[in-house]
Amino acid sequence: MSTTSSNHAGADYVKIFDTTLRDGEQSPGCTMNVEEKVAIARQLERLNVDIIEAGFAASSPGDFEAVRRIAEALERPAVLSLSRTRDEDVDAALKAVEGARRPGVHIFIATSDIHLKYKLNMTREDVLNAATWAVTRAKRHLDHIEFSCEDASRSDWDYMAKICAEVIRAGARIINLPDTTGHAIPEEFGRMFAYMREHVAGADEVIWSAHCHNDLGLAVANSLAAVRNGARQVECTINGIGERAGNTSMEEVVMAIRTRKDLMEVRTGIDTRQIYPASRLLSQIIGQPVPPNKPIVGDNAFAHEAGIHQDGVLKNKLTYEIMKPEDIGIPSNKLVLGKHSGRHAFVNRLQELGVDPATIDVEKAFAAFKALCDKKKIVYDDDILALANEETRRTAERFELVDVIVMSSSRTEPRAEVTMRVAGEERNAAATGDGMVDACYKAIYKIAGITPALERYSVKAITGGTDALGEVSCLVREDGMTVAGQGAHSDIVMASALALVNALNRLKARAAGAAARAVEGP
Ligand code: KIV
Ligand code: ZN
Repeated sequence: MSTTSSNHAGADYVKIFDTTLRDGEQSPGCTMNVEEKVAIARQLERLNVDIIEAGFAASSPGDFEAVRRIAEALERPAVLSLSRTRDEDVDAALKAVEGARRPGVHIFIATSDIHLKYKLNMTREDVLNAATWAVTRAKRHLDHIEFSCEDASRSDWDYMAKICAEVIRAGARIINLPDTTGHAIPEEFGRMFAYMREHVAGADEVIWSAHCHNDLGLAVANSLAAVRNGARQVECTINGIGERAGNTSMEEVVMAIRTRKDLMEVRTGIDTRQIYPASRLLSQIIGQPVPPNKPIVGDNAFAHEAGIHQDGVLKNKLTYEIMKPEDIGIPSNKLVLGKHSGRHAFVNRLQELGVDPATIDVEKAFAAFKALCDKKKIVYDDDILALANEETRRTAERFELVDVIVMSSSRTEPRAEVTMRVAGEERNAAATGDGMVDACYKAIYKIAGITPALERYSVKAITGGTDALGEVSCLVREDGMTVAGQGAHSDIVMASALALVNALNRLKARAAGAAARAVEGP
């Protein structure tokens, strides 16, 4: 079977399509504001991904704005917006990517009988017409049109082949076959690609793409099976974030292709040394720690505990290591800067860690770094990342924490006095509570005028020691919306307050967006 690729990079080149900012971001607790999305997009550009799905422009004004900003900010990767087959969606997607050097639109509609009957209430003929119509409309404006058969792995292959042939005729350049529900098994998923490439008229003119979900833990295996059967684009997310059990993990699929090139006989354009910074940046921004045993980027991915393993690795790393940590960008020495480091060294380090200094207030971040150096003997990379992310968050927020005073003794109830700026105006409130954090949260609720349910609250010491920078993640819920917030500070009450204020800002932004949201998402 011949390998299709209209890519000048060659028939063995697999494009990496990153959907962290769309499929990843729409999963619970992974919401990002526009500034944070731009910061991730810039890191994706450094990773050298081929395509970035920056959002779903029609879903909310916030998503539209994020796609527009990312489209304008990036030089090299193609920037796409997702779109249903509706005219308002296609138009919003086209408009949002207008400023991109390489704009694209990703149109999808479900093709499985289950979705047609229970979700869309459409006939097969209706879906065929809607798909062709939407692709034709978008194609009038730009060339990079991807079409996805949602729930492809549970769709009738012959019906899907018919739709694919029609959308290719209408101008689609990429055909994506998602395993939307994570239901496929590698052998069968691979066969589906082989079948479609053999039976679809025009199959050789397009790039075939795999988009997998991880419900059975097979997203990476299914993506590789698709590649073995001619797919030349893989859709994935950093750290594998995404709906339910997540999407294909970018770091895993890229490193599998690279490490087993003997068998896979393909390559990607990813600068693998940017993988670890990307993973940490995302984890810090969304406040979701990377599990220690996560392949490639987990803290234990290169840790050898068993005596026999340690002995082997000391003799020769090849005994138990199939990849080199430095190829993934894992710093061999996490100890970085200190009290005497200058602004220049600080900015350099930020860049090495994947933070674009243009996206944060460097002066404030540097001042916070110096203040931290006064408190801590050793400042680690993760401390610096946390400070930078604190600044990224601040730039886009409407509630701003100014000051927190807490009083606690074994005889009196803990009390907090909080000062915040709300739309530029300073406001104060005091409250008592079960503990200092509780009192502080009650005072913040008074100022913000909302009392969302606190669904999750966790504290993590970013690096060791009692002087460590603490990172707090919280999840709050109000009016059916759940958002996460993060805050980092050497004082845990301050970190807690920053996390809540961050969550309240996101809640406000989401509430504003929700008013305009008329979407039953993909
Ligand atoms: O999982 C899925 O089917 C999707 C499509 C919108 C591509 O995310
Ligand atoms: Zn998906």
